[in-house]
Formats: sequence, structure tokens, C-alpha cells
Amino acid sequence: MVKVGLLGLGTVGTGTAQILLDPDGRHPLLQDLELHRVGVRSLEKTRTVPLPSGCLTTDLKSIVTDPAVDIVVELLGGLEPARSLLLEAIAHGKHIVTANKAVIARYGDQLFTAANQQGVYVMLEAAVGGGIPVIQPLKQSLGANRIHTVIGIVNGTTNYILTRMQQEGGDFQDILVDAQRLGYAEADPTADVDGLDAADKIAILASLAFGRRIKLDQVHCEGIRQVGAADITYAQKLGFVIKLLAIARKPEYASSKIANLEVPELEVRVHPTLVPHSHPLASISGVHNAILVEGEPLGQVMFFGPGAGAGPTASAVVSDMINVASLLKLGVTGPDIANTGLHPLMACSHQHYAAVAPVEELITRFYARFLTQDQPGVIGKLGTCFGDHHVSLESIVQTGTQKNLAEIVVVTHHVREGNFHQALEQIRTLAAIDSIPTLLRVL
Ligand code: HSE
Repeated sequence: MVKVGLLGLGTVGTGTAQILLDPDGRHPLLQDLELHRVGVRSLEKTRTVPLPSGCLTTDLKSIVTDPAVDIVVELLGGLEPARSLLLEAIAHGKHIVTANKAVIARYGDQLFTAANQQGVYVMLEAAVGGGIPVIQPLKQSLGANRIHTVIGIVNGTTNYILTRMQQEGGDFQDILVDAQRLGYAEADPTADVDGLDAADKIAILASLAFGRRIKLDQVHCEGIRQVGAADITYAQKLGFVIKLLAIARKPEYASSKIANLEVPELEVRVHPTLVPHSHPLASISGVHNAILVEGEPLGQVMFFGPGAGAGPTASAVVSDMINVASLLKLGVTGPDIANTGLHPLMACSHQHYAAVAPVEELITRFYARFLTQDQPGVIGKLGTCFGDHHVSLESIVQTGTQKNLAEIVVVTHHVREGNFHQALEQIRTLAAIDSIPTLLRVL
């Protein structure tokens, strides 16, 4: 039997235990996985899953050092004690299965270096996209391709909020409060609505897709708080939906339209984005996640499904356990394998950091909404400021008014982000400009 030490019996931990304890009709290797020990915060809590007697403990360290445990499954979430326990488990020769995107995105280099030395695996299918199999395809099935773009809707909470704003015409804050009431958003929604959760996830996806380590502080990150009901309406009229996209791509493929461009290695960013109605990601609604991967020669492939929840995330966790169990049964793990540099499960062995482009160098289209005095010449002055900084406009419309101010919406052609912001600085000095409530990028 392959013995499993499970850390955490929350929503996903419980879902995982349920699958392990009910293997009939699933993959035959599940019969070989034994839930040996389960680490929890309190022994007092009533458990909804019938665990083997005596397996519960609050001593998590005793699980990661237990000589009988083969695979440590970390479903605690958060940075500590998860990171320390994972490192200790690796030092004791345990294979790791984790759903912890925060730890992987920040400390992946430590964990993978330690794991490669020990000849053990760190498996993380559940860390991105919940139940969607996307990690293993990036590591294995798509290996023949030169991947140039990964674009994902990887946060269900924000996609749920934006979808409702689109369907109901409501404001962000009201829908957030309702989403919290209904359990679709956390009491503290910061990590989701400010894009931090999506930033962790795209850092992980980029690292796998492009074979480079990514420094999380180089991932440009904007959340959805600035998106107003008016923006949703304007986007709709212009032929777009607004989505929080997590994007990693090689710039040269995106920017051939611009002359004299310096080409950095990789763009990695998270921000609300106007997505054309015809784009495959435009129709991903509610809490669902989707990840679009583009490469040569494959073209486009999109992974779609439930991005969170007990059952879906446990499905991903258990798939990793099955993969590790198959190798343990064949006896192909350990330092001997590590020394060959060959990893049957394609471990993350790359060492180099990506040169991530600063966001000012990004070449993109922009959407901007201005509130201005409704007087002659304002649109002309806006156009002049943009022109002075080589920002070419695709469309400029004034349809509405708000509190006696004119609402002007601009969509640019592809511009260098730094130029666009210089133009905005000049625009802010114009007496007729009241405010610029929203700045969004356009896919
Ligand atoms: N909070 C995440 C989301 C799920 O809303 O998608 C866990 O990664």
C-alpha cells in the first residue's frame, strides 16, 4: 500500500478523503492508496467523513516525519506552517501533493530545488484551475509545442462578480456584498478581487509553459474594484465583455504591429480586460475557470471547468496521488532517479528566472473613461494630448452624462503603455477634466 499523510481536513481535504475512502469505479490505483494519517487543527470538530480510527492528529510535524508515510498531501492553504511542513516532508523523502498556489508561487524555487535533490515530486494540479487538468498538460501533453501565450480566467469569485455585473447592470460593491452573502466570495475578498490569487496562478502557469522561474513581484497585478456598471455597458456597446484575465506571453508574437520595439522575454500580468465577444474566453461565465494556451504547431487549446470547490479540487489532488502512486509501485523514484535528471512525471527542474517585461513596455490597446466639463473643444484637447505622445485612437464616444459631467470613452490602437500614461498625465492637467474613473486594457 502507498501511505498518505493528509494535512488539513477543510473543504478540499474532506473531498479528498471521501474519494480515497470510496474507490469503487474510479482508477484501480486508488485501491493502493491508504489514508494513513490526517492532520487537523482540532480533534473536537465533528467530521462528515468516516475516517479510519486513530488516524487524526493535531501534531502535523509527526505526519511529515513519519517513516511510514509515502505521500504528504498539503491542503492547509496559507504560507505558514504549510511552507515549513512541506520542506520538512521533502527532507524526509516524502512526495508532495499540494493545492497551495500561494506557497508554490512564492517558494516554488526552494521546494523544487529541495525536491530535485531528494528525488521526490512536488505535484500541484489542484493549485491552478481547481478541477481543470491544466498543469499536467503543460508539463507533458503540450511538450512538443513552442507555447507563446497562456491566457486564463483563473479566479471564479471575480468571474462570478463580473458576470453578474454584466447580467444585472449592478455596481461592483453591491454585487460583492451579495456574493459574500451567498458564499461565492470570502469575508475578506482581497486576494480574489485585487487579483492576487490570479497572480499566483499565472506565475505558476507561466513557469511551466515557458520553462522559467517567475518572480511574483514582477507580475503586474490589478483587480476589479475600479470596474463600474458604466464600463460594463460601454464595453457591451463596443463589442466586448470585461473579464479579469491572467496573461503570460512572449511579446514578440503580440507586438509585430509596432515598429522599433524592444523585445523582452515574457509578459506576465493580471488585470481586468475588455475581451471581444468573439474570443473563446468571452463566454466563460459565473464561477467557471478557463485557460487558453496557444503554441506552435498546435494552435489554440482551451481548458474549461470548475475552478474551485471540494469535489473538483479533490479530483485534481487525487489525480496527482495516482500519478505518484504509479511510480512508487514501479520503484522509479528517489535520489538515483534525481541524479539522472530524468523525471517520469516531468518535475519542475528549470533554474533560470524569466526576464519579465516592465508593464510600461507593454504594447496593448486601452479603454479609458473620462468625466469632463461638457464644453467646446474638450474632445479636441484629449485627442491632441494623445497625439503628442504617439497614442492613436481607434474610437472616441460621448454618449452619457453623470452629475452634469460629460462621459467620454476612448479606445486606443496598440500603444506602448508608458506613452499612454504620459498622455494621461498631460490630460489630468487640463482644466476641463474632472476625473478618469476607469483605465482598462483591451485584448
Ligand atoms: N478563491 C479562488 C477563486 C478559488 O475564487 O477562484 C481558489 O483558488
